[in-house]
Amino acid sequence: MKKNLVIVGYGGMGGWHADCALRSDVVNLAGVYDIKPERNEYARSKGIFAYDSFEAVLADPKVDIITIATPNEMHCPIACKALEAGKNVISEKPVTLSSALLEKMIAAATKSGKLFTVHQNRRWDNEILAVKEIKESGKLGEIFNVESRVHGSRGIPGDWRAEKEHGGGMLLDWGVHLIDQALFAFPDDPVVGVFARFDFITNAEVDDGCRVNLIFESGLQYYVEVGTSNFIQLPRMYIQGTNGSALISDWGRPMQVVCCHNWDEKDIVPIQAASGITKTMAPRNDKTITSFEQPLPASDVHDFYRNVVKAIDGKETQLITHAQMRRVMKVMEASFESDRTGEVVRCKI
Ligand SMILES: NC(=O)c1ccc[n+]([C@@H]2O[C@H](COP(=O)([O-])OP(=O)(O)OC[C@H]3O[C@@H](n4cnc5c(N)ncnc54)[C@H](O)[C@@H]3O)[C@@H](O)[C@H]2O)c1
Repeated sequence: MKKNLVIVGYGGMGGWHADCALRSDVVNLAGVYDIKPERNEYARSKGIFAYDSFEAVLADPKVDIITIATPNEMHCPIACKALEAGKNVISEKPVTLSSALLEKMIAAATKSGKLFTVHQNRRWDNEILAVKEIKESGKLGEIFNVESRVHGSRGIPGDWRAEKEHGGGMLLDWGVHLIDQALFAFPDDPVVGVFARFDFITNAEVDDGCRVNLIFESGLQYYVEVGTSNFIQLPRMYIQGTNGSALISDWGRPMQVVCCHNWDEKDIVPIQAASGITKTMAPRNDKTITSFEQPLPASDVHDFYRNVVKAIDGKETQLITHAQMRRVMKVMEASFESDRTGEVVRCKI
């Protein structure tokens, strides 16, 4: 049987969740609630039931799941109240603003025995699934460097995302996705160092871009970059292994792979490079490498809700766990500390 879902915060992302729920095979859109009456009126104009208050949502016994899609600082108080009222809770990302607040949410979930998770939907991005796939195939050998970038050129959005009190800033907005993807792709390798630098180009209050270098215990370096002042974009993903390289140029583009099957190339012809010549940087000929395109794996982001519903029914384990939320939060906290101090934060996360 479908679970009844209510969305709290019916703005941009709340609208996305509502559209998904209207097409869902596992949840039924029981309604929405937004603090702004005009958003509730808008929902009603579309034939969606809108509650008059958050208390009315909590008091409705038919509500099984609450998805929180408000600005970030409200995730913790809304989640705790919803869990206390016996509802299952999905929080939008970032789950909250600190490890201390996350622990409050986890404690409320443990006490109530209800499901509590975070909508890290970008685990279903084909690009990160392709990285996992190529890693697991061994085609590139041992992966030692991954670079994951998202680039825009519109500065930080002018809404609550530009304000600290609402949990704004691009690390919390986009960085959280890319960090979660890194830990998802390399789950068993502890992060032992974090070095971060933030941009404040289009505003001063919170970062409008961030560069975070994660050093894993295995030696893997995973670089995350979120930019909003990039009028020329760099590729979405770049991966280096001991035996080859891979690149995804943009969302939805196939992965280009080059594998080396013979390191000992003979008769290397030096190339002219700017004001000198070089053999080291000369491109390889086709005899020692194999180049191919790998299509991105298919995915369905609604598997997130399918898992939530099965986990509530005890038929599957929750995919996005409390332990994973804690890891992501600690890496973000280490990133803030590193940007503040200018130092590498040594850790074991
Ligand atoms: N997972 C994703 O891909 C993704 C994408 C975009 C946004 N988000 C997340 O979704 C959340 C909302 O972002 P958005 O872009 O939809 O913002 P938005 O400003 O478009 O919408 C937020 C809505 O929440 C309402 N609101 C504020 N306080 C409230 C409260 N106490 N109770 C009920 N409603 C309240 C606002 O009136 C507004 O309508 C953020 O946490 C954001 O990080 C996630």
